[in-house]
Amino acid sequence: RGDPRLQAISRAIRVVPDFPKPGIMFQDITTLLLDHKAFKDTVDIFVDRYRDMDISVVAGVEARGFMFGPAIALAIGAKFVPLRKPRKLPGEVISESYVLEYGTDCLEMHVGAVEPGERAIVIDDLVATGGTLSAAIKLLERVGAEVVECACVIGLPEVKDRRRIRGKPLYILVEPR
Ligand code: PRP
Repeated sequence: RGDPRLQAISRAIRVVPDFPKPGIMFQDITTLLLDHKAFKDTVDIFVDRYRDMDISVVAGVEARGFMFGPAIALAIGAKFVPLRKPRKLPGEVISESYVLEYGTDCLEMHVGAVEPGERAIVIDDLVATGGTLSAAIKLLERVGAEVVECACVIGLPEVKDRRRIRGKPLYILVEPR
C-alpha cells in the first residue's frame, strides 16, 4: 500500500534471528512501542479504519494483542475484551483450542463480556498460520457476535495473500522483515 507511514512502522520492528529457537526470525514489536511516532501511526491507521464501522468490541489476543487493542478501543469508543491463555481469567469462560507446530494451545473469553449481535474486530501483533485468529473468531461467534475483521500489524505473505481467516477479512499493515 502507498501509505508512507508503513515503511517507518516496518523499520521500527526489530528482527531477532534464531529466537526463541534456531531458524525463527522473531518479529519483535517492543521496539515499535519504543518509537512514539511509529507506535502512534500504527494505532492511528487502525483507528481511522474502524472508527466509523459501528464496532463495539475490540478483542485482543494475549499477549501482544493487548499492546495495541486497548488504545484502539478507547479511540473508537469500543470495549476491550482480552482473549487469554488458559486459566488466567477468573470468571466463567468459554474456550477454543487450536493446533500449533508442536502441540496445542487454547484461548479463553469471559462469558458475558460480549453480547449477541455486537460487532467485533480481533487484534493481534502477528498472523502466521492464522490458527490463533481462527480460535478468536470462533469464541466471538459462539456468543453471537459478528466478527467484522481481523487486524494485525504483521502478516506473513502466505496468509496476507489469502486475505481471509474463517471467511473473515484480514487487514495487515506490513510483512515480516
Ligand atoms: C504469536 C503471535 C500470535 C500468534 C500467531 O503468539 O503473537 O498471537 O503467535 O501465530 P499463528 O497465526 O500461527 O496462530 P504466541 O503464540 O507466541 O503467544 P504469546 O504472544 O503469548 O507469546
